[in-house]
Amino acid sequence: MNPVGALRGEVVVPGDKSISHRVALMGALSKEGIEVSHFSPGADCASTLSCLERLGHVVCRDGENLRVRRGEALAEGGVLDAGNSGTTARLLCGLLAGMAGVFAVITGDASLSRRPMGRVVDPLRTLGARIDGCDGGRRLPLSIRGTRLCGGTYTLPVASAQVKSALLLAGLSAQGSVTVVEPRKSRDHTELLLEHLGVPLKREKGAVTVFPYDDLPGGSWRVPGDFSSAAFWIVAASLVDGSELSLPGVNLNPTRTGLLSVLERMGLAFSVEEAPRAGGEPVGTVAVRSSPLRGTVVDGEEIPTLVDELPLLAVAATQAEGVTEVRGAEELRVKECDRIAAVAEGLSALGADIEERRDGWIIRGGRPLRGCSVSSRGDHRIAMAFAVADLIADGPVIVDDEACVAISYPGFLDQLRERAACR
Ligand code: S3P
Repeated sequence: MNPVGALRGEVVVPGDKSISHRVALMGALSKEGIEVSHFSPGADCASTLSCLERLGHVVCRDGENLRVRRGEALAEGGVLDAGNSGTTARLLCGLLAGMAGVFAVITGDASLSRRPMGRVVDPLRTLGARIDGCDGGRRLPLSIRGTRLCGGTYTLPVASAQVKSALLLAGLSAQGSVTVVEPRKSRDHTELLLEHLGVPLKREKGAVTVFPYDDLPGGSWRVPGDFSSAAFWIVAASLVDGSELSLPGVNLNPTRTGLLSVLERMGLAFSVEEAPRAGGEPVGTVAVRSSPLRGTVVDGEEIPTLVDELPLLAVAATQAEGVTEVRGAEELRVKECDRIAAVAEGLSALGADIEERRDGWIIRGGRPLRGCSVSSRGDHRIAMAFAVADLIADGPVIVDDEACVAISYPGFLDQLRERAACR
């Protein structure tokens, strides 16, 4: 859409998607119920709510205000459509596995039906869960017959907050404690939310233990802004000359803000001002200015803290001086699409120098991007990353399926175009 104007002023991003899913699921474990404002407007969280309603829980939604409480006459089961949402499908497995008397089938769209479910089914089976599904339970649809689970310890082969959270939710209805050991620290929203509600947890380095707990306490708060949504504005502002943007009320959980640390190494000028915590989560304002960037290496412990932002970081890396390398990010191959392939294909078409690797990529920065058509592969984060590329390309970047942006950030493209058009 060049030429674009500098991005200036304040942007309030939608409520955090990961936290919103957890708020809804934990509300359904509470007779008192949980009430929040600024609930995520994305289609993924709407999938979680419709599954909970289908199970007989009470969901009252008025725009971004939400109240969820445990239903009094729960359905014996039903078909639950998780849509495009891995978090919905995987966390529901954990929630339902320990609910004796429930029988449910979890389905999803074509993308979700290709994604691995064995990672959540296998550990739940070690606790006694009765789950079956396509390919022996490795793919959707999955059927779950709730039963009394036993406690146990499970060591995750890959750092996954979805799998960890499924096990913690299952642990709440198990007969003994459930401990999850993780190889690298993944996002800890489930732990923070349980602690905020006053549910006892044991947190040690690399492990977390939950104890049986019936009827969660309720509460009321504002869901912090989604750092993964703020990220698109942060990178856009860093790349468009003269930009100065402020993003208030954003979640600053360090298990999510790895992009800021990486961009800091790359030379981004930004500041962070903390505000009071909300729902147990750190919150604050991020202010960012356009900055010349230089290449860096991203690897190891850092990967889970910016896993959803890596496609966007690749766009920034095309404009950085020198080489940016991402390693150890093979998880990107099993997200809403194969994000390594999608980024390599799209950025190559735009004229970037990118080399695809099994577990990441190498980008030699400093080349101008040209306009052309690219495929989002129906993946919201890929579509939004290419929309940011559009701001700096020398001609229009046409993204084939823009509607998928509504999975996490409805309205983003209009807001971005409106801001960038203001001169
Ligand atoms: C999420 C965890 C991450 C992330 C996803 C949301 C969550 O997935 O990519 O967008 O809400 O727990 P993994 O748990 O597979 O790493």
